[in-house]
Amino acid sequence: MIDNLHIVVLAAGRGTRMVSDRPKVLAPLGEWPLLRHVVATAQTLGAAEIHVVCGFGADQIRTALGYLQVNWIEQPRQLGTGDAVAAAMTAVPDDARVLVLYGDVPLVRPQTLSRLVSASAPDSLGLLSVDLEEPAGYGRIVRDAYGQVATIIEDKDLSVEQRGIREVNTGVITAPAQPLRRWLAGLSDDNAQGEYLLTDCIAMAVADGTPVVADHAASVAETQGINDRRDLARAERTYQQRKTEQLLQSGVTLRDPDRVQVRGDVTVGRDVLIDVDVVLEGDITLGDGVHIEPGCIIRHAVLGAGSRVMAHSVLENARLAADCQVGPFARVRPGTELGHRATIGNFVETKNATIGASSKINHLSYVGDARIGKGVNVGAGVITCNYDGANKHVTTIGDDAFIGSDTQLVAPVEVGAGATIGAGTTLTKTAPPNKLSLSRAELVVVDNWHRPSKT
Ligand code: UD1
Ligand code: CA
Repeated sequence: MIDNLHIVVLAAGRGTRMVSDRPKVLAPLGEWPLLRHVVATAQTLGAAEIHVVCGFGADQIRTALGYLQVNWIEQPRQLGTGDAVAAAMTAVPDDARVLVLYGDVPLVRPQTLSRLVSASAPDSLGLLSVDLEEPAGYGRIVRDAYGQVATIIEDKDLSVEQRGIREVNTGVITAPAQPLRRWLAGLSDDNAQGEYLLTDCIAMAVADGTPVVADHAASVAETQGINDRRDLARAERTYQQRKTEQLLQSGVTLRDPDRVQVRGDVTVGRDVLIDVDVVLEGDITLGDGVHIEPGCIIRHAVLGAGSRVMAHSVLENARLAADCQVGPFARVRPGTELGHRATIGNFVETKNATIGASSKINHLSYVGDARIGKGVNVGAGVITCNYDGANKHVTTIGDDAFIGSDTQLVAPVEVGAGATIGAGTTLTKTAPPNKLSLSRAELVVVDNWHRPSKT
């Protein structure tokens, strides 16, 4: 850990090439906006302070990410990366070590950064470089006859010969605060961009005799900058590869790792199997032997060992005990808790419902605001009428009850343990335990009736 490390994250640019009304650093990558990834990485480095420079869309950024433990800095006009760092330097003491990160370079790894900072502190300027097959768009690192870094030339300012240089600036730069402040003050905007370029500090450091250390990033993927939607899609692919790699390493079978999306933290037991086109969001725990069939979306959920989620089901804020079955085509909404071996079948929607062990709701039902005991059978097409237009009411069903098909449970209402409700009942008062309750209109047979025919 480096003493008195001040990290400056640049996030003031508009991101014109994204063609968006929203500031670029709020674009989503996995579960978070770009900027949050960079700040999360910065937070692992034990900095004395993290400064985030905002400008374009600053209000939007602070509304979205105001909870981050950072010092927000305003760059009133976006005059370039050099100007942006200078804005932050007002909050950085002279004896600090500064590390500059870009809000649009979100995948850089903590170990890469700490290696760069350690290699260059206390007196050198350090920059993270990488060799690219297609360097267009990036600032190129120009070296002198001895192979020492001489300067960085931005893409728009390159001469024809310099275009061939494949070693590029990733944007990560670290320097002692005092000389950095001096170099920034000396920048000019006399370049193709008409901006104050942070990268011009490199030539100034060289002129000052400050050693410059260019560390090669271990992987190209972590240095990807995001300037347009193509870059964003590519970074998402890299991020997803990291996520699925972790799952594979922890023993999960992914039938096709390129067809699973992880936007959160997934904790897994042994022998979990995830089929194709599954999206996992938020905090998810999958117990031993959990099997997720194709096309499922699961957000913030705990799935007990041996549970199976069948194709095209959507689960959110739900807890399943062991050996449950859900789907296919089930919608398990927030506040659903399934007991051991409970089953939710096709076209069933549940919400704020506890469903006891071995209970079954197999077909075409809506069960909301319900407390259902153990061993209950809920027939096809059963509806809890939980909403009277103003308030929600609870349905309570005791253990081993049997709810006949097409029953409406008009809440608040209670079904006693062991009760049977006849098919088609509209239940408006308590059904006593161990008895048959039913409401059913008498069948009427009309003898001399003819079906209308077309005239
Ligand atoms: C920058 C580097 C380039 C490097 C590339 C790596 C400069 C001058 N160039 O180019 O050498 O190869 O990143 O991805 O630094 N920003 C501000 N205020 C401003 C301007 C920009 O905060 O006035 C922020 C942007 O929001 C962005 C970052 O700085 O997060 C980089 O700016 P961008 O315009 O994307 O620079 P590049 O052209 O990509
Ligand atoms: Ca950029």
